[in-house]
Amino acid sequence: MKAIAVTPGTPNSVHLEDIPMPSVGDIADGKGVLVRVLKVGVDATDREINDALYGNAPPGFDYLVLGHESFGVVEAVGPAVTKVKPGDYVTATVRRPGGSIYDQIGTYDMTSEETYYERGINLLHGYLTEYFVDSDDYIVKVPKGLKHLHVLMEPMSCAAKAVQQAYEVQRRMKVWSPRRALVLGAGQIGLLATLLLKLRGLDVYTLARSQAPTRNSEIVAGLEAAYVSTTAEPIEKLVERVGKADLIVDATGSSTMAFAAMKSLGHNGVLVWTSITGGAISGEVQTDQINIEWVLGNKLLLGSVNANSEHFESGIKDLALGEVMYPKVAEKILTNPVDGLDNYAEMMRLLVEAKTALKVYVNVAEE
Ligand code: BGC
Ligand code: ZN
Repeated sequence: MKAIAVTPGTPNSVHLEDIPMPSVGDIADGKGVLVRVLKVGVDATDREINDALYGNAPPGFDYLVLGHESFGVVEAVGPAVTKVKPGDYVTATVRRPGGSIYDQIGTYDMTSEETYYERGINLLHGYLTEYFVDSDDYIVKVPKGLKHLHVLMEPMSCAAKAVQQAYEVQRRMKVWSPRRALVLGAGQIGLLATLLLKLRGLDVYTLARSQAPTRNSEIVAGLEAAYVSTTAEPIEKLVERVGKADLIVDATGSSTMAFAAMKSLGHNGVLVWTSITGGAISGEVQTDQINIEWVLGNKLLLGSVNANSEHFESGIKDLALGEVMYPKVAEKILTNPVDGLDNYAEMMRLLVEAKTALKVYVNVAEE
């Protein structure tokens, strides 16, 4: 069967591979779930992998099948599987456990090992193919009523983990009740974080460079958050106007912005970094100023990567709630479909060139 792959280490190597068809029996203990792939989303991580800045092939292979944002339909299940059945819509988590204690309790997103295993990213093949099989431990059911949001499940899981982690660490404050949040970046993670924070009742300011109106600014408005173009109002000016934030989520993809955000956090606040920056940019930081502000303000910097199945499940519930609170808004993120695995070059072109392509995804098969 067809798969979209890269040769890790070789820039711009995206190509089609012919790979074997998997089967339920490939997974031990009757726990196999065979999924027919319907759609797969791609993001900046896939672009960095194709730029040979990130990612590795599985041992014994010179290629890596891309794709970590899956959506499909269950084709067959092993005898021990009870949580899904043929015909169900599903997605799958990305990371697989290593050997640390965190991996062993299902929180593989928190592995303490340097090596991590991620389908479509690092050391494991991904989902940009016709069928995949995995243990039911990593399969997450998508409710029928959310099938129009298909490939958003994985990015939502990452945003859901980031927000949940922020609340979790802020239990240190005993009575934390955040009011103002800044979300930096209006890409998929920024927009989904905006939704999550609005559902938690915060005043949310979502910042991006472009001047409104854009597709992204309309989505922010649809979520009843405030879109701020940093071209018109730089972050320092915004903070002068509305005050520092209790919570900041950086999803700009820029380490420069991630560090700059430190100046906009209020006392006792938390800044969450979510961007994967595979490049080698370095810059000057006002270390004394930041150090004293962070110490005197008891501020916290939190990195957040990936998500486990609980984050997928909570993210899916929040997408469902989002459909009730802000109907038909989240689907506007799904901007750029590409038809069929054969169109891998177009998929990569959109990812690299099209500034307005908020979400590129491949329609792998019809139902
Ligand atoms: C994926 C995450 C992954 C991260 C780092 C992101 O694009 O969505 O699942 O953990 O890249 O590899
Ligand atoms: Zn991703």
